[in-house]
Amino acid sequence: MKFIYDDTSAPFATGQESCVPPGGYFKMDSFNIVVFGGAGDYSRRMLMPSLFHLFHDGAFSGDFLIIGFGLPALTDDEYRSLVKDALLKFAPASLTEEKWTEFGKHLSYIPSSFDDEGNFEMLLRRLETQCIANRQNRKEVLFYFAVPPPYYPVIVRNIRKYHLCREGIEPKIVIEKPFGSDRASAIALNGMLAEVFSENQIYRVDHYLGKETVQNITFFRFANSIFEPLWNRRYIDYVEITVAEQLGVEHRGAFYEKAGVVRDIIQNHMMQLIALVAMEPPVGFDADLIRDEKVKVFKTIRLTDEEYIGNFMVRGQYGPGTVNGTAVKGYREEYGVEPDSDTPTFFAGTFLIDNWRWSGVPFYVRTGKRLAERCTEIAVHFKQPPLSLFGKTCDILAPNTLRLRIQPREELSLGLSVKYPGIGNTPYNVEMVFNYADTFKIERHSSHERLILDCLRGDLALFARQDGIEAMWRIVDPIIAQWDATPPRFFPNYEAGSWGPPGSDDLMTRDGRSWSSM
Ligand code: BG6
Repeated sequence: MKFIYDDTSAPFATGQESCVPPGGYFKMDSFNIVVFGGAGDYSRRMLMPSLFHLFHDGAFSGDFLIIGFGLPALTDDEYRSLVKDALLKFAPASLTEEKWTEFGKHLSYIPSSFDDEGNFEMLLRRLETQCIANRQNRKEVLFYFAVPPPYYPVIVRNIRKYHLCREGIEPKIVIEKPFGSDRASAIALNGMLAEVFSENQIYRVDHYLGKETVQNITFFRFANSIFEPLWNRRYIDYVEITVAEQLGVEHRGAFYEKAGVVRDIIQNHMMQLIALVAMEPPVGFDADLIRDEKVKVFKTIRLTDEEYIGNFMVRGQYGPGTVNGTAVKGYREEYGVEPDSDTPTFFAGTFLIDNWRWSGVPFYVRTGKRLAERCTEIAVHFKQPPLSLFGKTCDILAPNTLRLRIQPREELSLGLSVKYPGIGNTPYNVEMVFNYADTFKIERHSSHERLILDCLRGDLALFARQDGIEAMWRIVDPIIAQWDATPPRFFPNYEAGSWGPPGSDDLMTRDGRSWSSM
């Protein structure tokens, strides 16, 4: 079964039919997309396959126009062949000749560098003559920036100069992280975008927010009444979040050298996960109501200073090792990486949230490349029962742990203690598990497909807002600055295929705890 996007469908199914996805069915009206970097790597790997999947699954009920803009110089036909080749590689299962012929008709291309003003004029003419209006007679144009951030200023300048957002066109812009490289540059980037686009026309993609299991954190918390009363410092001992990757930096060494783990994961994906666990119930499900609550969390995360960072933050860089039985290079041997690089590929740290709900509850987080397993998981550890009713055996009672497993296993599980059968009072730890694949036997969309749809629908809830971006940078800027100022002495300090440097375990053991997600 597939998701059906149809705004005429019955919104809810109950009881036995509950695996029919409820609510929010949507068939997209007509739209227009201009893809800057339309022939580039990101478009070929991610954007075009996502658009094609949506088209294939019937999500687009109206007409649509996709204009690729960029280099290399290609004719429309050559561009279509390039996209078809990309689909053969990245979306082979859905690619039939019939579907491709239908989809390919919607594509065209303007070969151009981003500073070639004449071609922006050509883009303007094309939009004026070909732009498709939707049922409300509105011409919505999505400007998708599938290019690295250094190209943003020149593109935005030319969009402004050639009035691509002129009256009669309703523009939206999609950009992907990184949103700056620190708070100051994020503010500057936004200032530049704000000269052309208003905040509610800017869709800042954090692909973690498009993951079904990440969205489910909000549902789990606010669609069930039994956990929310316990969701605070009185019942929760600590929270543990792991974003572990087995992959190394792959072909992105040069990019990663400038980014490092804090900019790459902590400033965005990790902060979003913390916010979803920690935020107060929003008063509604509108984008800004949810984003307001997240920003409040970012603003209450305790800021770090030199001493805090020294005591509670651990950095690492992988050396050579073995992952899944295969020998792999160390970070310093990767393509595009300096042989004496000090860039961290691992982070472990404790964040504290200074508000009424979370005061005193540590959020232990860790993330790294080339770790032993791929595992993204949030573990909420509840406090021990107050009384040792079962005498000595109570020593082996495991406190209840709720696990929100995001990937690769997509599960919710609750650890409980039960009585082991037979004579004696022996507690036994079991897990109650809800598994996505077992329950919902449906084909689900990739996070990018969901985000593209939301963008076309004009729903900003799963996109970052500028005040949130700035607040997240405010948290990580001091960490990056301190680590830049104090070169690490023992890099590489963890073997590829391990769980990171020893300091990561020490962070937990000195509090009498240990990492439990793997
Ligand atoms: C990206 C980072 O944002 O997220 C990558 O730039 C990282 O370095 C990736 O590998 C992880 O995403 P996922 O969806 O595989 O967990």
